[in-house]
Amino acid sequence: MSLATRDTTLRELMDDPACDPELLRATLRRFDTINRLVSGWGRVYRSRIRPYLASLDRPARVLDLGCGGGDVVTHLARHAARDGLDVEWVGADPDPRAIEVAIARGAWRARFACTDSTALLDAGERFDLVLSNHVLHHLTPTELTRFADESRRLSRGLVLHGDIERGRTAYALYAIGITPFAPGTFLRTDGLRSIRRSYRGGELAASLGQPWRVVRPAWFRVLAEATGCADD
Ligand SMILES: C[S@@+](CC[C@H](N)C(=O)[O-])C[C@H]1O[C@@H](n2cnc3c(N)ncnc32)[C@H](O)[C@@H]1O
Repeated sequence: MSLATRDTTLRELMDDPACDPELLRATLRRFDTINRLVSGWGRVYRSRIRPYLASLDRPARVLDLGCGGGDVVTHLARHAARDGLDVEWVGADPDPRAIEVAIARGAWRARFACTDSTALLDAGERFDLVLSNHVLHHLTPTELTRFADESRRLSRGLVLHGDIERGRTAYALYAIGITPFAPGTFLRTDGLRSIRRSYRGGELAASLGQPWRVVRPAWFRVLAEATGCADD
């Protein structure tokens, strides 16, 4: 198996609408642990999100697009509350099964809605920050362009899309490290497929084009950043 190029023929088990609902629920719940270990949002919160939200000097609105089981937005909300920031947190995902898990986890920290970026735009929703975690590598080229463009149109401030960076070391470490967390979930198969589907930094920058900038905020991570272009 080569990791030299993205393997976009692979489909993750959780992306099958007919997948086992119990395994999917368990996977979405356990993303909490995995995201805390690998996704690097604590660092991104300290370096980008906290300074930006504090600089607004007014209540802010933040959207997690493709929030899955809601753990990333819930953790960010907890950090911000500790820092005394006044923020309305929203998690959106088109999959009702994900939203069910998100509401059970964090309805008291964030509002969750079963919707997507197009419907949010049509509804006139606007945010100061739009972010996502582990969504980009799921998307086809057409979906990626639309997701990136609509996320900018929803934001009057920052847009931050975080994902895994494909590589042999990430693959090998994940294959070993996931072992205690994988039973009863899709985490092993889908995590390894995710890495094989994911971008390297340069590939993501080329796919997104201007005005996106792609950085590496932590080991095995890419972060696509842009400013939003919402009207108000
Ligand atoms: C691997 S999960 C990641 C969930 C969560 N962000 C996390 O980090 O645990 C990918 C999520 O993206 C959602 N998704 C896929 N395509 C999407 C799109 N075009 N817009 C918004 N969400 C999408 C899926 O429903 C799924 O819940």
